[in-house]
Amino acid sequence: MPTIKEILNTMEYGPAPESTKEAQAWLEQRGRQFGLFINNEWSAAGELFASINPANGAKLADLTQGTAADVDRAVAAARAAQPGWQALGGHGRAKVLYSIARLMQKHARLFAVLETLDNGKTIRETRDVDLPLVARHFYYHAGWAQLQAEEFSDYRAVGVVGQIVPWNFPLLMLAWKIAPALAAGNTVVFKPAEFTSLTAMLFADICVQAGVPAGVVNIVTGDGRVGEAIVKHEGIDKLAFTGSTEVGRLIREASAGSGKKLSLELGGKSPFIVFEDADLDAAVEGLVDSIWFNQGQVCCAGSRLLVQESVQEKFLTKLRARMDKLTLGSPLDKSMDIGALVDPVQKQRIEGLVQSAREEGCTVYQPACELPADGSWFPPTLITGASTSAAVAQAEIFGPVLVAMSFRTPPEAVQLANNTVYGLAACVWTENISLALDVAPAIKAGVVWINTANQFDAACGFGGYRESGYGREGGREGMYEYLTAKAEDARPVAPVVEAKAKAKAAAPAAGGAFAIDRTAKLYIGGKQARPDGAYSRAIHGADGSFIAEVGEGNRKDIRNAVEAAHKATGWTKATAHNRAQVLYYIAENLAARGEEFAARIAAMTGTKNAEKEVQASIERLFYWAAWADKYDGLAHQPPMHGITVALNEPLGVIGIVCPNEAPLLGFISLVAPAIALGNRVVVVPSEAHPLSATDLYQVFDTSDLPAGVVNIITGSADELARTLATHSDIDAVWRHDGSAEGCAEVERLSAASLKRTWVGGAKGRDWYSTAQAGGRAVLAHASQVKNIWIPYGV
Ligand code: NAI
Repeated sequence: MPTIKEILNTMEYGPAPESTKEAQAWLEQRGRQFGLFINNEWSAAGELFASINPANGAKLADLTQGTAADVDRAVAAARAAQPGWQALGGHGRAKVLYSIARLMQKHARLFAVLETLDNGKTIRETRDVDLPLVARHFYYHAGWAQLQAEEFSDYRAVGVVGQIVPWNFPLLMLAWKIAPALAAGNTVVFKPAEFTSLTAMLFADICVQAGVPAGVVNIVTGDGRVGEAIVKHEGIDKLAFTGSTEVGRLIREASAGSGKKLSLELGGKSPFIVFEDADLDAAVEGLVDSIWFNQGQVCCAGSRLLVQESVQEKFLTKLRARMDKLTLGSPLDKSMDIGALVDPVQKQRIEGLVQSAREEGCTVYQPACELPADGSWFPPTLITGASTSAAVAQAEIFGPVLVAMSFRTPPEAVQLANNTVYGLAACVWTENISLALDVAPAIKAGVVWINTANQFDAACGFGGYRESGYGREGGREGMYEYLTAKAEDARPVAPVVEAKAKAKAAAPAAGGAFAIDRTAKLYIGGKQARPDGAYSRAIHGADGSFIAEVGEGNRKDIRNAVEAAHKATGWTKATAHNRAQVLYYIAENLAARGEEFAARIAAMTGTKNAEKEVQASIERLFYWAAWADKYDGLAHQPPMHGITVALNEPLGVIGIVCPNEAPLLGFISLVAPAIALGNRVVVVPSEAHPLSATDLYQVFDTSDLPAGVVNIITGSADELARTLATHSDIDAVWRHDGSAEGCAEVERLSAASLKRTWVGGAKGRDWYSTAQAGGRAVLAHASQVKNIWIPYGV
């Protein structure tokens, strides 16, 4: 008699196609042609492009290619609607969002079938994953709207938001974008991807039914040209983008200096780490969900398998056997695991990358499976024998292709996991909780799944580290992306600093040891260092008299400072309690020399408030010391048996350009929160009044601040900011010296490595006010949230 396992192994499922009747009827009813949805009205169709069913190449409908003029109309409608939408209040908006959630549930089947027809992903995924998550997102954000006045009382809506999404999760990305934006009181101009706009068209109908007021949601279809028009539009206050890293960079560059808030959710090359003690069968199933879900067209797909050498062969054997069982075919068939790729372009791209692996001598395993004659298909693929630098090991393939490598020790696993420019997600499989929780924080990724994969929930933020972008979607942190602190509205214009012009004349040090010795040096790795170029600049007081010279830092000095900062990893690993103590100690030592610092400030700036500034600086150090061990993360309880721990992690090395007003307080207000959270900094003090910073060297030396945590380079703010923004080993750049052009340049240059930026633009800041220079908003700039999913039980 055959065993149950043998029976299961031979069991074949008959076709179980989902009916498309309702979806086809809806398309027919709409004449298979769509205009744009602006101000709750459908425009007449314009220049058309076809939406194709990728599973069979059949045309589903024609869509309108929007124009810049259409984007203008959509922005105008959104602008006009925004005050009313905000004025509706939290409860008013909550009711509308709740209504959308209910209607999405009611029409879930229609949406799921339409999505499968348009995208090619299996009905099992659209029905069981996408639609439930979409509804959950609207419910969850109805809740934030309801609680907004209480939980975000110091914030207001950003205004009009431009949102651009890709084709891999058309409706889910729509929900991730629109739900939080609306909850917070914004209005939106939304652009779906050109391959997959149909569910957004149906969603427009839902908006009308749900009572979304005219102009609150506007949907403009079309290709990247519509995206560009949205990005460049002056009437838009925030941009939210999900898509390729390449386009993300373009958007960062194009929006630099515009003052628009920006969140980018970009590509990934996520590691899937299997330790030798893992439940290997469960890990194989996790891997199936990780890399073959949605044909691998998932930004957080576990596309790099890292398996411990001792179990490598065993695991790969199990994996190949499982691959042999994957079913590929009509995505409407409920028994299919793998559907169609979104477009022939995508197929060509994947084929090209797999071919490159073959040419490099890798082994390519694909189960014998028959690909349908029409449409775009690619079999599940496993590549072994690739070097870590191979194109398939580094590039985001965005297809059902897994690249496997091995490691020996946990540190090697972490090193391989981080050997990528991306940092979106990671999976860690081990039965050893201690190992899992040791490895998870060491991986540079916004999401880590322990013994699970591809889990999402509206309560748990999602988003990247490094070149996977910035900003989070979901959770409390996701709400902040759509809010502006009210204190920002009260910021003054940046003061014109007279002394800045005087300080510009850089005088050579005349080669004389005497001259350079009188110059305040740079501070690198805990030591005073002569500037590489041996140049210095004269600093004059408010009365025009010469006070001192400071070193003129250059590119090489920044490089040395960044190296020193990178070496100071102990600071990041130190406990928050230790970091707080050091900050208190700095405050104590500054207080001991308070009069001297006040005299220096008075001499440089001519202010009568110098003592007040020193006192405020001491208090600010206490303030950030207080926060150091209180900016805790959260433990979410998503709908799974387990918890998701949201950790606030430091960014790494931050480059800071300080304001000219309040030279000591401005410096402390930026440096202290950065280091309180475990970052290391390379600081350019006020160009006009740098001596308050150079006087701090001795304070730091006597306050147990480890070498390399704070590095100070004096000189030209413009030049040094440029170097910081282009340095590939710096994780973030802050610039607050009131230079609109300089801030725009920092944003533009940051695009190359997708650094985080925090710039003040042409505005100043009341550095004495904790509303403007303190609070969680500053801490958020100094940190990034990592969500670690930890299921438990059996
Ligand atoms: P894409 O990044 O070009 O498209 C995403 C969205 O941006 C679409 O709505 C598109 O119309 C729009 N867009 C294109 N150019 C724009 C511009 N200059 N300004 C503003 N918006 C613009 O991605 P695409 O071409 O669909 O896919 C290419 C590759 O990108 C894929 O093979 C994959 O590797 C990667 N990708 C990654 C995604 C992710 O979530 N990580 C999502 C989609 C694609």
